[in-house]
Amino acid sequence: SKVPVITVDGPSGSGKGTISQILATKLGYHLLDSGALYRLTALSVIKHDIDVSDEEAVAKEALELDVVFKPSSHGEQMVLLDGQDVGVQLRLDETSAMASKVAAIPQVREALLTRQRQFRQLPGLVADGRDMGTVVFPDAEHKVFLTASPEIRAERRHKQLIEKGVNANIRHLLKSIIDRDERDRTRTVAPLVPAEGAFVVDSSNLSIDEVVQQILDFIGFSE
Ligand code: C5P
Repeated sequence: SKVPVITVDGPSGSGKGTISQILATKLGYHLLDSGALYRLTALSVIKHDIDVSDEEAVAKEALELDVVFKPSSHGEQMVLLDGQDVGVQLRLDETSAMASKVAAIPQVREALLTRQRQFRQLPGLVADGRDMGTVVFPDAEHKVFLTASPEIRAERRHKQLIEKGVNANIRHLLKSIIDRDERDRTRTVAPLVPAEGAFVVDSSNLSIDEVVQQILDFIGFSE
C-alpha cells in the first residue's frame, strides 16, 4: 500500500514550516520542506550568475542541484549547496524573491518533481509547500491549507529573521510578502490555492499548539 503523506500548503509566514516540523516529529514521519528546494535553485542561479530569464538554464540548475541535507551537531538541519553551508543565505529576502521567480518557471517545477517525490518514504511524510496537495502528492490522505493575514505573517517573519541575526525592516517585509503572494497565487503553473478537500486553518489568532491540535484532530491522531 501507499506511503502515507500529509500535505501542508500555504503562503509564507502562515506557520507551515514550524507546524510541519512539529507534526513530523509527533508522527515520527519524514519532512519535506519543498520551499528549500526552490530557495536552493534561486541561490544556485545567483551564485552561478545565471540569467533568470533563461528558463532552460535555470531548470538545469534545478535538475543538477548539488545539495546535501544533514543534521548539524546542534541537532538542527544543515543545508550544503556545492559543499557550502547556506543556512543563512537560504532565508535572505533576496533569495526569497528569486525563489518565487524561479518557481514560476514550469521546467523548474518539473525538474524538482522527482526530487520531491523521493522524500515519500516509510513510515510517512509531512510535505510543506505551495502545491504539495494539488500537484506533487495529489493522492495524499490528508491535506491541510494554512493561512494568516499578511500583517501577522510579516510580523512572524520579522521575528524569525531577528532571531537568526538577520537585519530586517517590517514594512519592507510586508511589501515583499504581498508581492511574493501575488506572484505565487497568479502564476499559471501550480498556483497557490487550497487542494480540493483540504482542511483550511487560519492561524492569525491561534497559537502554534492550537494549530497543531486542530490538525491532529483532523487526521484523527491521538497521543
Ligand atoms: O516556503 P518558502 O517561503 O520557503 O518558499 C519559497 C518560494 O518557493 C515561495 O515563495 C514559492 O514561490 C516557492 N515554492 C513553490 N512551491 C512550493 C514551495 C515553495 O512555488 N511547493
